[in-house]
Amino acid sequence: MRVPIIAGNWKMNTTVREATNLVSEMRPLLDQIENVDKVICPPFISLAAVKELIRGSSVKLGAQNVYFEEKGAYTGEISPLMLAEVCEFVIIGHSERRQYFNETGEMVNKKILAALKTGLKPILCIGERLEENEADRTEEIVTEQLRSSLAGVDYPSGLIIAYEPIWAIGTGKAATGEQANETIGFIHGKIAKLYSDEIAQALPILYGGSVTAANATEFMQQPEIDGALVGGASLKATEFVSIVKLTSQIRANLSEES
Ligand code: PGA
Repeated sequence: MRVPIIAGNWKMNTTVREATNLVSEMRPLLDQIENVDKVICPPFISLAAVKELIRGSSVKLGAQNVYFEEKGAYTGEISPLMLAEVCEFVIIGHSERRQYFNETGEMVNKKILAALKTGLKPILCIGERLEENEADRTEEIVTEQLRSSLAGVDYPSGLIIAYEPIWAIGTGKAATGEQANETIGFIHGKIAKLYSDEIAQALPILYGGSVTAANATEFMQQPEIDGALVGGASLKATEFVSIVKLTSQIRANLSEES
């Protein structure tokens, strides 16, 4: 069984002081929960301070974006090399970056290649828009996103995928557990075709989009879903900790049953 991952995407929220307060509140509670990988992704500016606060803890650190060049005259950008010194994970291709910052499939692909080369674990976000979902094009869209994002990736070691239907992000309108499970099963199948069954079986695929403590159980009970990328609910310590705790309990029950 794959170890579930609950990742918190803090987006453009929290000052450095707020971030360190939030981590100080979460850390002791998260450290008590086993069998789940807990990842928090604060804004760039807080990464170094948060890294210090989670030293010796089971909480892991991720960034929300990365540039694809190693260094140079790219004012305002952060390179994979810089991130590798402070964190283990990096979210790539989030729909907000595609929508507001014109990130193309080609850029996402370059970022994935650069992150993997540097040893960062990318959390690649894919997902369809509402109109694409309504036109029954979900599988076509995620297939195309996988193909373009992973072009030239021979072996996706360390890669994590987050299936985030765009209509479910920040809207309070989550997909159903079955809907998410079906698409994530489809994505696992595509990975098996692109690479191998073995690779597909080892690759964690998360669901993201309006996950809360109230609906987390529905997702975590699904066999294809390996965890969640949580936005809004990751900014409240008790809510995020509850999601991690529920995930751990459900996994424990499932492994007892099997
Ligand atoms: P949300 O965001 O949980 O606030 O819907 C999820 C995400 O964008 O990763």
